[in-house]
Amino acid sequence: MSQELLINRLIDLARQARQAAYAPYADFKVGAAVLTADGRVFTGCNIENASYGATICAERVAIFSAVAAGQRQIAALAVIADTPKPVAPCGLCRQVLQEFGPDCQVIMANLAGEYQVVPMAQLFPYPFDLSR
Ligand code: THU
Repeated sequence: MSQELLINRLIDLARQARQAAYAPYADFKVGAAVLTADGRVFTGCNIENASYGATICAERVAIFSAVAAGQRQIAALAVIADTPKPVAPCGLCRQVLQEFGPDCQVIMANLAGEYQVVPMAQLFPYPFDLSR
């Protein structure tokens, strides 16, 4: 599959996943799709809670779903929302993505059909590192 086709496929899966978003508080729906090293795709949507801090972002739902299925190497992540510009993952999700996809490609998209591909190293240049 060509790079462009793959990108469009992941964006489309993220767009479909977004439809399940549960976002009655922020009224901001997000969808995500991750591609793992062995070619599998896992999707996620944001799931809010009346106790706002218990809310989880779409990206982490997708990443955790991959990890729970035994897939710990993420090659690409697509995220989509209804935003004027392609939506970028929050800082917390960048830190989580760093754990399982430090060299991945991050595809940021919006419903208008715009997207931007940025390598993780560029999106998150100074990750937390536990080594001492
Ligand atoms: N959200 C995501 O799903 N991903 C992000 O990267 C940022 C924010 C969700 C969480 C919450 O449900 C809503 O968007 C507003 O913050």
